Amino acid sequence: MLLNGDCVKMMSSFPEKSIDCIITDPPYNIGLFMHERNTNLNKMRANQFAYAGWDNLEYTEWKQNMTRFLKQCSRVLKKKATLIMFMSVIKVADILNLATKYGFYYKTTGIWHKTNPMPRNMNLHFVNSIECWIYFIYDGTTGTFNNEGKVKHDFLESSVCPLSEKKYGKHPTQKPLSILKELIKSVTNPNDIVLDPFMGSGSTCVAATQLKRRYIGIELNKEYYEIAKSRIKEVEEI
Ligand SMILES: C[S@@+](CC[C@H](N)C(=O)[O-])C[C@H]1O[C@@H](n2cnc3c(N)ncnc32)[C@H](O)[C@@H]1O
Repeated sequence: MLLNGDCVKMMSSFPEKSIDCIITDPPYNIGLFMHERNTNLNKMRANQFAYAGWDNLEYTEWKQNMTRFLKQCSRVLKKKATLIMFMSVIKVADILNLATKYGFYYKTTGIWHKTNPMPRNMNLHFVNSIECWIYFIYDGTTGTFNNEGKVKHDFLESSVCPLSEKKYGKHPTQKPLSILKELIKSVTNPNDIVLDPFMGSGSTCVAATQLKRRYIGIELNKEYYEIAKSRIKEVEEI
């Protein structure tokens, strides 16, 4: 199921304890921070999330939105369900403080290392090549964890999202399917319901359906929602 609208509003109509896992990539609240810096981003506005318009909230408003969102997560998730949230490094502590208030048990902060990030200002400083994902269990301390007897590190590596995954349109912060599949395989079982309330171009839902999990995706922006619908349609026709 894919829904077009505000995730907090939509989630409030879901039954309690109905979702096995939430994997999501909400706004990181770094848009304004980037605007205020004198960077060369202006040259690349078309492709820059900081200018896409959905990550420009003041810090306090963003925190209020994340609070409302986490409250809904705690209502719809089953006991011992997993929540994984992608996040900017500088906002991890904020999410951790809020989530623990709503019954989430903190497991770890994982790293997604991009092997080919844009080498912006490479002769001036270290090139930014990582994003975080914060891993929680709701109402318990351990949930589903499929490791097939092998050690799994909280460090995932891939290229940035390949163009082949953008054929129905581009999202400036689209996550690669390989990373989402690794997370979904690890923390869910076939037929589980995976929810992505900030689905963007629908990457989590595409990965979930490819792995025979059920999915619910929510996206506010109509254009991104249409991209998600096209991507899902293609997978389901195969
Ligand atoms: C970081 S992006 C997600 C990108 C996604 N992981 C992908 O692979 O395409 C965050 C998305 O959340 C959406 N969004 C922001 N506020 C929202 C809300 N209240 N409800 C639903 N979606 C929202 C934005 O439009 C944006 O597409």
